[in-house]
Amino acid sequence: MSFPVDVVVMAAGKGTRMKSQLPKVLHRLGGRALAQHVIDTAARLSARSVVVITGHGAERVEAGLHAPAGGMQLKYVRQAPQLGTGHAVQQAAPVLPDDGVTLVLSGDVPLTRPETLQALLDLCAGERMALLTLDMPDPTGYGRIVRSADGSVQAIVEHKDASEAQRAITEIYSGIMAVPTRLLKGWLARLDNQNAQGEYYLTDVVKFAVGDGLSVQAHRIADAVQVAGVNSPLQLAELERAHQLRVAEVLMEQGVRLADPARLDVRGALVCGQDVEIDVNCVFDGQVSLADGVHIGANCVIANAVIEAGAVIHPFTHIDGEKLGVSVGPGSLIGPFARLRPGARLGAEVHIGNFVEVKNSTLAAGAKANHLAYLGDATVGERVNYGAGSITANYDGANKHRTVIEADVHVGSNCVLVAPVTLGAGGTVGGGSTITKDTPPGSLAIARGKQVTLPNWQRPAKKKP
Ligand code: UD1
Ligand code: MG
Repeated sequence: MSFPVDVVVMAAGKGTRMKSQLPKVLHRLGGRALAQHVIDTAARLSARSVVVITGHGAERVEAGLHAPAGGMQLKYVRQAPQLGTGHAVQQAAPVLPDDGVTLVLSGDVPLTRPETLQALLDLCAGERMALLTLDMPDPTGYGRIVRSADGSVQAIVEHKDASEAQRAITEIYSGIMAVPTRLLKGWLARLDNQNAQGEYYLTDVVKFAVGDGLSVQAHRIADAVQVAGVNSPLQLAELERAHQLRVAEVLMEQGVRLADPARLDVRGALVCGQDVEIDVNCVFDGQVSLADGVHIGANCVIANAVIEAGAVIHPFTHIDGEKLGVSVGPGSLIGPFARLRPGARLGAEVHIGNFVEVKNSTLAAGAKANHLAYLGDATVGERVNYGAGSITANYDGANKHRTVIEADVHVGSNCVLVAPVTLGAGGTVGGGSTITKDTPPGSLAIARGKQVTLPNWQRPAKKKP
């Protein structure tokens, strides 16, 4: 790009129709705040800086957004009161260097593609005004693109100020424009609020540009989703589905087999290898990677996890690595109805069955916990078999302690392993045991009441009246 680009993101509006305490631009789409999508898109254009104009809920908005990686400058400018889009950009003018192009975006329009904005900037070329426009079957409420007989753009007229003839125009202004900053500043200084809404309209700069003999170009696109704004929960949900469909399409282009692209939700970054299959209604959050041949069953929620090649995650499994992460080794079988929590590190071919919870524990290759069990703060060796209903008692009410289960140990059903405790390699723990002391390798440990059997026992019977 031969000219620097400074992006202005308008985000001062109230968003009344969201009927929410949360400022509109902080509502989430695909796991990210609406305005964060806009900032991240600006970063992909290699913009020099982004200036976010805040007003309603300014402090929360400023705290809720962050500069993307890559060193692009993120600045905030406050607009109070909000006197219109022109007034909003006027507030940014002092921090916009004269040598660049200003790209105006809205914090509530999250799905504009970077290629579209790049095409707009190319049209601007550092010296023209370029408007992103769209044909709408029902243009009610939007600013209309008024063209002269030769087709050149003359002005944008807001719906409320438009004549009947102008209202019949279906080409609308998207709210996105690229303008040489030095010229923009001159026109901003000339805005007034003598219009139907008593607002300072940014769109009035078009007629000034035309009056000054500057070429005004329109980049007309057909994809309404790219310029769609969020004003209500319904529109937010519609754009969420549009966004998720885009994500699903990209995954399918990479070869991922989705049972139903309409029933997938990716709220972070999902990276997939070859021959990955994902059944319906799965949610992925944070950083998730699925290696070659991984199968994810229906209704799984998976966040911050690395799933290695050939692992199968059966339906209704919940995995959330949070900050520590979760890793599932190659060929492992997890679920159905399993729960892997932060710090669960599973080696190759580990089996975790239904209603088994694993937290901050390492399970070496071939270890199995197939039913109704808890492993917390445990180190589990190779080929350990951990019986149904067994738990590590890792918490003494004040501190957490580790349980070490060495290779080839068999823990029977319904055992309580009171940490800190170590079970020596190859040992066996009888079902129903409460283990409080270390056991040597190869031993059998039984810690429960001895069985008492009374022969010919007569059960009490009800007395006849
Ligand atoms: C604006 C355009 C209209 C265009 C439409 C596309 C003007 C005058 N009109 O209309 O031509 O078709 O967008 O959606 O620009 N904002 C502020 N401060 C303000 C006013 C608004 O930051 O004082 C922000 C809002 O939060 C929003 C954006 O600017 O993110 C656009 O404002 P909005 O009221 O939605 O503009 P429209 O009246 O719809
Ligand atoms: Mg408005």
